[in-house]
Amino acid sequence: MEIKAKANANIALVKYWGKRDEKLNLPAVGSISVTLDQLTTITTVETDESLTEDEIIINGKTPTDKEILRISSFLGKIRSIAHRDEKVRVSSRNNFPTGAGLASSASGFAALALAGTKAYGLDPDPQELSILARKGSGSAARSVFGGFVEMIRGYSEDGIDDFAMQIADENYWDLKALILITSEEKKKVSSTTGMIHTSFTSPYFQAWVDSSDEDIQEAKFAIYEKDFEKLAEISELSCLKMHALALSAKPGLIYWNGSTIDLINEVRRGRANGIPMFFTVDAGPQVKVFTTAAYVEKVKGLFEGHPGITKILTAGIGSDAKILRDED
Ligand code: PMV
Repeated sequence: MEIKAKANANIALVKYWGKRDEKLNLPAVGSISVTLDQLTTITTVETDESLTEDEIIINGKTPTDKEILRISSFLGKIRSIAHRDEKVRVSSRNNFPTGAGLASSASGFAALALAGTKAYGLDPDPQELSILARKGSGSAARSVFGGFVEMIRGYSEDGIDDFAMQIADENYWDLKALILITSEEKKKVSSTTGMIHTSFTSPYFQAWVDSSDEDIQEAKFAIYEKDFEKLAEISELSCLKMHALALSAKPGLIYWNGSTIDLINEVRRGRANGIPMFFTVDAGPQVKVFTTAAYVEKVKGLFEGHPGITKILTAGIGSDAKILRDED
């Protein structure tokens, strides 16, 4: 059976950094994200009894051995839930450039979780799907849902209470994201490696965990109230706190380049001049700027031609991961 699914990338406003269980991939903190339209993974999964191994193609190419292992072991989890053992042919394509500083693992594993479960005859509810996607990548749990999303930090040993849920759908608040690409070089330290290293070596790690609930509550409140200023404040705080944590690891991790800092300053200058915008930065040097629909062209104008930016991607708020029919 061949199934095609689509999932969108997401950007965290309150960041996930640290794992409470490495093996089960359970987050040490909750997080809040926004799912983006325009930045999409489409994945096809086809079961085939004649295959002796999973056949995996990403963006038209065979991925590295490490990536194949990660994807195959994820497919193995689906097989064990479904009590099936035939292998699959997987073909996955991102419509956004790799090296865009957008975790393609988020949309990638959300799309694979959906297409994979359906291909093996399962029918998980969104919560079950989010738990499964989380096993592929922490941020993938959030890409199952559209709009504004909260990832819950659970407490159970098996991770049954670590899943994402929607706070508000994609039509709730017309925010826009500009992704300012400053470098297309592959990052040297992946988020998984970086967050594990940080949790073992930063003297501030416990303080990060202890202060995370408050950040989540504030961000949720800002979203409920559609309070842009408040959301700006808490998002920048969470981003800077995450990077301060990475910087305080031993040895310290620096994900930024010089342009990242210039752009952060530019965003704060613009906001001081009355333009509603704020920044967030993930485990790389790209700066993501959020603004309102009314200001998106003006903000784009501020950054177009800015030295240090190689490309600008623009997105609105995206929807849930979904199955695509032939006509889609
Ligand atoms: O889902 P992962 O393992 O790629 O980690 C994502 C980490 C950050 O992007 C830096 C933060 C986040 O919450 O997305």
